[in-house]
Formats: sequence, structure tokens, C-alpha cells
Amino acid sequence: MDSNTGTDKGGETPRKKFYITTPIYYPSDKLHIGHSYTTVAADTIARYKRLKGYDVMFLTGTDEHGLKIQRRAAEENVTPREYVDRIVSGVIKLWDLMKITNDKFIRTTDDYHEKAVQKIFRKLYEQGDIYKGEYEGWYCTPCESYWTKSQLLADGKCPDCGRETELTREESYFFKLSKYSDRLIEHIENNPDFIQPASRQNEMLNNFLKPGLEDLCVSRTTFDWGIPVTFDEGHVIYVWIDALTNYITALGYMSDDDSAFRKYWPADVHLVGKEIVRFHTIIWPIMLMALGESLPKQIFGHGWLLLDGGKMSKSKGNVIDPETLVSSYGLDAIRYFLLREVPFGADGLFSNEALTARINSDLANDLGNLVSRTTAMIDKYFGGGLPAGARSPRSSPGAIKEKPDIELKDMASALKDRVENLLDSMQFSTALTEIWRFISRTNKYIDETMPWVLAKDEENKPRLAEVLYNLAESIRIVSVLILPFMPETPPKIWSQLGLAEADGVISWESAGKWGIYPEGPVVSRGELLFPRIEIPKTS
Ligand code: ME8
Ligand code: MG
Repeated sequence: MDSNTGTDKGGETPRKKFYITTPIYYPSDKLHIGHSYTTVAADTIARYKRLKGYDVMFLTGTDEHGLKIQRRAAEENVTPREYVDRIVSGVIKLWDLMKITNDKFIRTTDDYHEKAVQKIFRKLYEQGDIYKGEYEGWYCTPCESYWTKSQLLADGKCPDCGRETELTREESYFFKLSKYSDRLIEHIENNPDFIQPASRQNEMLNNFLKPGLEDLCVSRTTFDWGIPVTFDEGHVIYVWIDALTNYITALGYMSDDDSAFRKYWPADVHLVGKEIVRFHTIIWPIMLMALGESLPKQIFGHGWLLLDGGKMSKSKGNVIDPETLVSSYGLDAIRYFLLREVPFGADGLFSNEALTARINSDLANDLGNLVSRTTAMIDKYFGGGLPAGARSPRSSPGAIKEKPDIELKDMASALKDRVENLLDSMQFSTALTEIWRFISRTNKYIDETMPWVLAKDEENKPRLAEVLYNLAESIRIVSVLILPFMPETPPKIWSQLGLAEADGVISWESAGKWGIYPEGPVVSRGELLFPRIEIPKTS
């Protein structure tokens, strides 16, 4: 993966790097489909960038300290470490199952992370950006958040979760957010891509930055499952300083070998759920400014998957288990649904009905049928492979005469650029919609050309071959373009169409070319790609 090694051919320019992250999730419980949502989205971008030739660093991990985890462990009579080890091994299995291609997995309990966080904390203290004071506020334990009186609900409850808060006072260290807020406002205003979608940018500026930032409490004495402050016994570093720094400690920041940090930082994008945009666009950039490091290029805050109108959450217990979904419906169906159903910035409802409807219409009907009809016809009319010269049997190479053929080719030729533009701006749903529009166009091409009618007359054999060639070619292009989203389906299509990597016809670049489906591959009818799901009567 390292493009800067001596094994590269001389004179070759180093590959462009791309660094993408997910939040590090709390292993307070098993992860649910909401966590899979962010991780699948990040994985899709990582796969896409690798296909485009980038040197990608894709980071995910777990955020393991804090009172909540300490309490969960105590409830189960295990040490916090035993507790998180068990959950984290499940997280790693889940990402395996979902074919997540992260290059690194960071745990905030990893020794190198703890050491780096301690160094960062000390550096900020020594330069005066962290100072000792006293904190008082209303604390919500499940949210691990302090609130000011004016932020609480009318009955004194937590404005995030609606539960009891306690007035709590403790000696704490504070981080001088206020010192850097003008610089941050300027950065946000000068870099419209920094916070995406744009609506979240106004929210950060108007609701938080412009009214003025309070300094942030960054240590606790009320629990001990955290990274100790090296110079003040009894204080542990509070979650956000411990958690946010993962994006640089994972690359070796403040360690003996920080070459990965030098190479990959700044991050190209931090993908996060909208509820933690504030931490990522205010606290994190200010920490980086204080450390003298550059800021991430973009923070993208996506919407929530909702269940029966409410947010899925581990603490509410209304969660959907991704493992169950994958084993019932298949991985690609789940990945497709997550990215297709809801525009990425918006909230959306998860339901089994919506999932089943998508699988039956988009996957079984549109894509699945296209592939099975095409391979069946090639098999039936040409005994397992198209004849030589099928591409343009009646004319000089490249000359396409029929109107539907022209439309199909034009749409196919424009598709890769469209998909790239949409993926470059995280518009997964629209990108898939575009691909599926082309799949529909291809299905319509079958209705227009009616291969079964052509097949009745031997004289039409060349045209029949040409039609089936165009179908195979369209499917080839689709199979490449869905690769970042759906890792399992394309190889099944390739084996049915007789395509192999070595021929250069399934590379990412090949999706932008029309007319390269090779001569001679054996086409075979395979298993149905997506069997229809019987609509369940319950829930
Ligand atoms: O916040 N819909 O961890 P967390 C969409 N440790 N996305 C969802 C979701 C839902 N219903 N539920 C969870 C933390 N997510 C901190 C992060 S980062 C330095 C520290 C996703 O376990 C989404 O990405 O609560 C959200 O931001 C994240 O999981 C929260 O995970
Ligand atoms: Mg959360």
C-alpha cells in the first residue's frame, strides 16, 4: 500500500492519498444498524477511491472509556476491560461480515493511543491552552453531558434524552475554546466545504460559534475508567479529548513513528452522524489549531435512521441488529438499502416493509431479472456465448444504427462520470438512482428490440447477436459501477458473463467505455442474484 517505497518504478508520481474516518463507536452494547449505516457509507467511499487508484486510509474503531461503560461493566460484574473486549470482538466480527475494508481499527484503550493522548494533554497544558478550574453543571449520565441550567428542559430534564440530570461540581481542567473561536469562524466562512451538508454549517455558526464559546471541561474526577492526567492524580481525561484525537493517534501522532500521520493527515473527510457534528466542527478543529496541525478538509454530518419515528439508540433498546438483517436478506441487499433509501444528509425511516420493497423491485426485478434474462437468451440462442463480431456485425466497427442502441450507448457512456460526481459529494442515493435508471433503460431495450421475435428468423441472427451484445455490455458497465456499494454481486455477474479481471474489462476505468465486452467468453446462467422476498404479514 505504501506508494513512497523504493520498489516503485522510478519517475512514477506517487498516488494521491485519501483519508476517511467513521466515528469511533461506544462499545457500551452491541452495535446496531445505525452504526452500520455510517460504516457502510465510509466503506463505499473507500472502495470507490481505491478503484480510482487512490492510496486510501480508512479508519474506524471504538471509544472505550467513560462512566457509562464503567457502570455497564459493574452491572455485569466484569472489569471495564473485560466488558469492552467482549463487545469489541463482536464489532470486529460485524465489520467482517459486512465486508468493511477499513485499513486500521483503533481502540482508545490501545497503549499507543493512551500515551499520545497524555502527551497531547500535557502539551496543551504547558502552553496554557488547558488550565485548572472548577466545574459545575447539570449532568446527564446516559448522555455523559453536562448542561447549563438554561439548556435543561422546563422540568430540569436532559434536553437530549429527557431523563433526570444531577447538579454536579468538581475540580476540572478546562480547554480554552474561546481563544480560537474567531479563527474557527473565519475558517468555516472561508471554506464552504468544511461542514457538509451546508445547512449544518449555519447551525454551527449561528447557534454555537457566534453566540460565544464557553471553555470546555476536559477532565473528570468522578470516575476512573479513562486515561489518567499524568501530572495530576485522580483526574482522567474526559471523553471528547480522548475520542477525537483518535483520528491522529491512529496514524502514529506523538509516537516514535509518525510517518503515517505525515502522509495521510489532514483527513479528507470525517463521516459522522449529525448529533456529533458540533464536537467535530468546533472542539476538534480548535484542538488541532492549538496543536499547530492542519484541519480536516471536511466533516460530513449525515442524518439518522429512525425507527417508528424515534432514533434508534442503544440506551433506548429499540435497535435493529445488522447481523440478523444480513443473514436474512444478504449483505448486498442491506448495503444497497442503507445507501439507496434515504438521501445521505437527511433522516429516514427504517422498516422491514421498505427494505423488502426495495429488494423486490430494484434488486430482484430490475437488476436480477436483467441479468437472468440476458444470460438465458445468450445461452438459448447462441449456446453459451456470443458469436465473434457480435459487437457490430452489419457495419464498420463503432457504427451504431438503431435508435434504441444509440440511446443505450449514450446513457451508458455518460454514467460513470455522473456516478463519480455524485459519490464525490456523498450523494449515495442519487448515484444509485442514476445506475438504476440505466438498468431500467436496459430493461426497456429488451422490450424494444424483442430478441425472442428476432430469434424466429435465421436472417436476423446478426441483429440478435448485436442486441444481446449490447445487453451484456450494459450489464458489464453496471457491474463495475455498483462495485463500491455492493461487493458480493459483481463477481457473480462476472462469472455469469464470463468476464475476468485480466482482460481489463472490469476495471473502474472500463466502466466509462462502451464496446469492450470481449469476444469469446462463455456465458452461463447462474443462480438468481436476488430471490424475491415474500412480504411478511407481521410487524
Ligand atoms: O457518539 N442513524 O459513539 P456512538 C444514523 N463515541 N447513524 C447512527 C445512528 C442512527 N440511528 N445511531 C448511531 C459516539 N449512528 C462517540 C463518537 S467520534 C470521535 C466519537 C452512528 O456509539 C452515527 O455515525 O454513540 C453516529 O454519529 C454514531 O453512530 C454514534 O455512535
Ligand atoms: Mg450516541
